[in-house]
Amino acid sequence: MMSPMKKVWQRALGVLVLLALGVAGGVAWLQARDQARSYASESDKASALPALALPERVARGAYLARVGNCASCHTARGGMAYAGGRAIGTPFGTVYAGNLTPDPETGLGRWSADDFWRAMHHGRSRDGHLLNPAFPYSSFTRVLRSDSDALFAYLQQLPAVAQANRAHALRFPFNTQLALTVWRALYFKPAVFEPEPAQSDAWNRGAYWVTGLGHCAACHAPRNGLGASVRADELGGGMIATQGWYAPSLSDAHEAGVLRGKPQAMVDLLKTGRSGNASVVGPMAEVVFRSTQYMAIEDLNDMVLYLQSLSKPALIQAASSAFRQAPGKPDLRFTQGEKIYSTHCAQCHGEQGQGVSAIYAALAGNRAVTMANPANLVRVVVQGGFAPATTGNPRPFGMPPFRQTLDDAQIAAVLSYIRQAWGNEASAVSPLEVLQNLQANEAH
Ligand code: HEC
Ligand code: HEC
Ligand code: HEC
Repeated sequence: MMSPMKKVWQRALGVLVLLALGVAGGVAWLQARDQARSYASESDKASALPALALPERVARGAYLARVGNCASCHTARGGMAYAGGRAIGTPFGTVYAGNLTPDPETGLGRWSADDFWRAMHHGRSRDGHLLNPAFPYSSFTRVLRSDSDALFAYLQQLPAVAQANRAHALRFPFNTQLALTVWRALYFKPAVFEPEPAQSDAWNRGAYWVTGLGHCAACHAPRNGLGASVRADELGGGMIATQGWYAPSLSDAHEAGVLRGKPQAMVDLLKTGRSGNASVVGPMAEVVFRSTQYMAIEDLNDMVLYLQSLSKPALIQAASSAFRQAPGKPDLRFTQGEKIYSTHCAQCHGEQGQGVSAIYAALAGNRAVTMANPANLVRVVVQGGFAPATTGNPRPFGMPPFRQTLDDAQIAAVLSYIRQAWGNEASAVSPLEVLQNLQANEAH
């Protein structure tokens, strides 16, 4: 959501960045330091494991590419796999993920495994220039050298596609290497995955997937005005810039409903896109569709073990009771919403919001409905959507889009209703919030 306040902040931060750019001496020093870090001996910390033979390395690389969801960003809509060209919106403009096929002119054909490791681990391209953090190297930096080599071996045997990279369309000063130098000095440090000796092997493997290749923090982390995740709580929940979707906290059981349930429910959700009558929607549906559905059950078990260990006792949200309906005294919006609900929604989600098991999501008692931030509800009702098609859920049912049928005030009314009916106790949604949420998408 791009509030005017946030714009002001971003502008102020832009000025700050410019000031920082002015301090040329300091910047030169930062660059030298970044350079030194990038070539430090870490790159030689090859794992002690014997290198895999090529066919095994390629097979492992193919699996890892699913976990890291590389194809999703590095494939243009309707384009050749891994040939690049997909536009990725950031608050600072658009970046284009490049060609990863082994074409020598336009792709990684001339790259060595060391060059590739430097990109994954240090966020630097082959010629040494700094890469934009829309490439989630803040997470990928934790990938082990042996896994980086496996990914590289896989990418190198793909069919070469000659397709030149598109230039990024970023606003000044965010399009400069100096801005990236400053950003990196503030927010990025190459990291090595360090297992926690006090935890089990399974927990450590889960942590490796979640905080490394899985890059769950790319969406689930809270971000500051410069797009950096600065809180220690890396999975504390965040708005996805320019898309108007909110990726809920995975450490607060109040938001991540599945944390409260059995581990199996969360494994099901990541494997099939559905669990009981909850399902994933929007950007998470794409993550399940392209990535987690291909992960081995053992790896998903490890991830869930790690995620559930982060869970903190649910925070009591003062906001959610502030707007509570006094029983027997429904206000106008609630009554309007009830009518809209029974006309447009009840045939699928049930008069009591009970849903239809394994077909239509229950809305009563659903954390996606009562979460403090209503952004996803606006998205779902306006855009409609499908849960991802997976082996475990091959023909998901769809939710129709209501963009043409309901106006902002009616959407606000029906959302207020489902947040407060059947024992749900969340704040009402105003027409202004609906409007702001819709504009968050169109502003870019
Ligand atoms: C969320 C989107 C996203 C995902 C997921 C992603 N990338 Fe990228 N990647 C980018 C963007 C954007 C760039 C361009 C950065 C730049 O040019 O500054 C990039 C750049 C790169 C580069 C540097 C290319 C060059 O010419 O310098 C490599 C190598 C790379 N990605 C590999 C991978 C691999 C391997 C994976 C999966 C493990 C992956 N990427 C997943 C967005 C992504
Ligand atoms: C591209 C952005 C993106 C990435 C990457 C991403 N998520 Fe999500 N995730 C979302 C959004 C948006 C939602 C909210 C929509 C929904 O509930 O389906 C969500 C919802 C979820 C939920 C549902 C919470 C609940 O309790 O119902 C889980 C679990 C989850 N994500 C786990 C993960 C894990 C684990 C990873 C890393 C492997 C991950 N996500 C990576 C965007 C993302
Ligand atoms: C034709 C049947 C149908 C109708 C009519 C319908 N929905 Fe849905 N709805 C679905 C399906 C199927 C899903 C799951 C889609 C998905 O996972 O992307 C869903 C998902 C949702 C979700 C997300 C639940 C979650 O767990 O993330 C909400 C909220 C929702 N619907 C609200 C509404 C409202 C409000 C209306 C009326 C304005 C409505 N629906 C009308 C079928 C329907």
